Amino acid sequence: KHCFSKFEDGFLYCENNKVEDIFNSVEESPFYLYSKPQISRNVEAYSEALEGLDSIIGYAIKANNNLKVLEHLRKLGCGAVLVSGNELRLALRAGFDPTKCIFNGNGKLLEDLKLAAEAGVFVNVDSEFDLENIVEAAKSTKKKINVLLRINPDVDPQVHAYVATGNKNSKFGIRNEKLQWFLDEVKAHPNELKLVGAHCHLGSTITKVDIFRDAAVLMVNYIDQIRAQGFEIKYLNIGGGLGIDYHHAGAVLPTPMDLINTVRDLVLSRDLNLIIEPGRSLIANTCCLVCRVTGVKTNGTKNFIVGTGSMAELIRPSLYDAYQHIELISPPSPGAHASTFDVVGPVCESADFLGKDRELPTPDKGAGFVVHDAGAYCMSMASTYNLKMRPSEYWVEEDGSVEKIRHGESFEDYMRFFDGL
Ligand code: LLP
Repeated sequence: KHCFSKFEDGFLYCENNKVEDIFNSVEESPFYLYSKPQISRNVEAYSEALEGLDSIIGYAIKANNNLKVLEHLRKLGCGAVLVSGNELRLALRAGFDPTKCIFNGNGKLLEDLKLAAEAGVFVNVDSEFDLENIVEAAKSTKKKINVLLRINPDVDPQVHAYVATGNKNSKFGIRNEKLQWFLDEVKAHPNELKLVGAHCHLGSTITKVDIFRDAAVLMVNYIDQIRAQGFEIKYLNIGGGLGIDYHHAGAVLPTPMDLINTVRDLVLSRDLNLIIEPGRSLIANTCCLVCRVTGVKTNGTKNFIVGTGSMAELIRPSLYDAYQHIELISPPSPGAHASTFDVVGPVCESADFLGKDRELPTPDKGAGFVVHDAGAYCMSMASTYNLKMRPSEYWVEEDGSVEKIRHGESFEDYMRFFDGL
């Protein structure tokens, strides 16, 4: 079951709520609309897939950092993957169990590593200088840090270059030829470091589970080598990256079950605890960006729907040429003919589009439309370009009520940055 679907009456629903009704009751535009039950169902899909394995679902907070969303994910049993001091602070505020949290990143700052040491979260080692900083953080806080080595397995994830991370020329992780140096360093710091696992993350929007299998095969071989040197490591972290069906055109994509099943035998054969770090596949399809049509225009051979949403709230189409499905929330007016439109925002540059060459009924001024799958890497990547302020977020609860889960930003909020200067 998916939360956003068109019913027979031609209206789009979020669970059992007409999006049109919510659209009419919310004064601002655009806004993000989530289904809370869909978040639960997505976690459930992973929990079911992981049955019979020792495991941690480390939700990648970068995908969506709404506090209410985080609290909900935490209550459902998730841990968290953090890539900055502030994400770590937020995870602690949201009540995540530190022993289910992993601090990751290629440029972690010493002050943030100290915070991680105090909190007792796992820390991924990314490079020589990173290891140096981790040792220093352990010394200054007098805490022994549980570390995983982020190994760069050089497996091609077959995705857009901007979201590929596990190939040998990437800025992330440690290449295998350096592995021994890191093991020796860990051995040299028995009071500061405890090596507990190995991590890899290949990239994002991956749609073939064989890719995860290939990486996991390499990773368990590294784990065998590491164990052969007397390290008792028990965590295999295969990262995140499972893609979702952005196209809504009936393609069958691998599920969390498919992903876990492709590595299950490897995990069991080495008696490992499996950490996964899903972001997109947990949260993307739980949310739409709901926009209003400001007007329709034609220039040259192009028809445009100009709406309230833009690259400021949803940059993925501009940045990665990503496709996100767009549809009107109500049936077209009688006589409205379908055309091919570029759906664009009001931001002053031509990179500002939400969708290109979309077949849509010509909408009336003021009509509502949605951009689907906006739960991951949309609000968390939103900017205030052109002083478009970050929008409010709402969700539909289990009982069908609509609740605001984040206030939109205002012009007054912006002016506050200059108070007293
Ligand atoms: N773990 C690590 C170490 C990561 O770097 C990432 C994402 C994840 C987990 C979660 O990956 P996911 O399951 O969400 O694919 N802004 C881009 C995506 C960047 C992904 C960065 N790393 C986009 O909008 O497509």
